[in-house]
Amino acid sequence: MNIAPHCVSVAPMLDWTDRHCRYFLRLVSPSARLFTEMITTAALQHGDRERFLQFDPAEHPVAIQLGGSDPQALAQCAVWSEQAGFDEVNLNVGCPSDRVQSGRFGACLMLEPATVATAVAAMREAVDIPVTVKCRLGVDAHDSYAFLHDFTAELVEAGVSRLYVHARKAWLKGLSPKQNREVPPLDYERVYRLKQDFPALEVHINGGVTTVEDALQHLQQVDGVMIGREAYHNPWMLARLEATGSGASALPTRHDIVSRLLPYVEKQLAEGECLHAITRHILGLFHGCPGARAWRRTLSEQAHRTGAGIEVIEQALARMTRT
Ligand SMILES: Cc1cc2nc3c(=O)[nH]c(=O)nc-3n(C[C@H](O)[C@H](O)[C@H](O)COP(=O)(O)O)c2cc1C
Repeated sequence: MNIAPHCVSVAPMLDWTDRHCRYFLRLVSPSARLFTEMITTAALQHGDRERFLQFDPAEHPVAIQLGGSDPQALAQCAVWSEQAGFDEVNLNVGCPSDRVQSGRFGACLMLEPATVATAVAAMREAVDIPVTVKCRLGVDAHDSYAFLHDFTAELVEAGVSRLYVHARKAWLKGLSPKQNREVPPLDYERVYRLKQDFPALEVHINGGVTTVEDALQHLQQVDGVMIGREAYHNPWMLARLEATGSGASALPTRHDIVSRLLPYVEKQLAEGECLHAITRHILGLFHGCPGARAWRRTLSEQAHRTGAGIEVIEQALARMTRT
């Protein structure tokens, strides 16, 4: 089955999908759309903006995810993002953490569709790159299909370019963000129905996708599949999905990917980055292969050491069978 370029994406994940992670994932998957971690409007307005907006040109296509609710602040941040070269600006309407709720953004914004619509419209007005939203099926007791439908209708009216739907609702009280990724049940049918009701809207499904087969099945119903934890813990799944989707007969080997990563690692080390900041994202590369534990252990134990360089990766790789 051939799949359209960029219809697979790697979900935004705080503390995980930083620029090193994305550079590595780009080597594994040449066409997946990559997302930054969520970056708040306050961080861009008052923090080290240049650092937050930094990425390597190899990462394209890459979307920045913003957290915030003030339309003017979001529009300003969208402009900075576009100027920095991002391909898409995405608004987080799905994160249920307390910190996010106290800032009145994330999943609780699903209860304020007019605010989200105003924010989308303001961003659309300010930039030419696609403005997209990532949301849940609903929040707390607001979990009917009608609720999701009406929310989506407002976003469509505001000109949203694409919607990523994490196919479970969020509980705003009593569950941690981690529990909120497991406890409320997944309901893919609702996302399929949303696509049927809004055929002109690009709808991407997210949540619980762990195999190539899962992804291909969803792609029969919706425009795209967003993969989170599995892409991080088992990145080779992305390589297999890429090969299946493009009809390529041969996959690169994991050794090829590491060899292609090494010049980047050397460059980063020369700029003062520590090895562990990069190797922590490649621990899952040999997931399911013989020796995977030794790979993880060598990198975890050695990469922390002062002055650790690419020889740590080379030594770990030398012990692995070429797959
Ligand atoms: C460590 C971690 C951090 C996350 N951070 C974000 C985030 O910054 N923004 C966001 O919209 N979702 C975030 N999520 C949720 C994911 O984007 C995704 O919606 C969720 O993990 C479900 O997809 P999955 O089952 O494929 O992992 C995070 C998930 C994890 C595991």
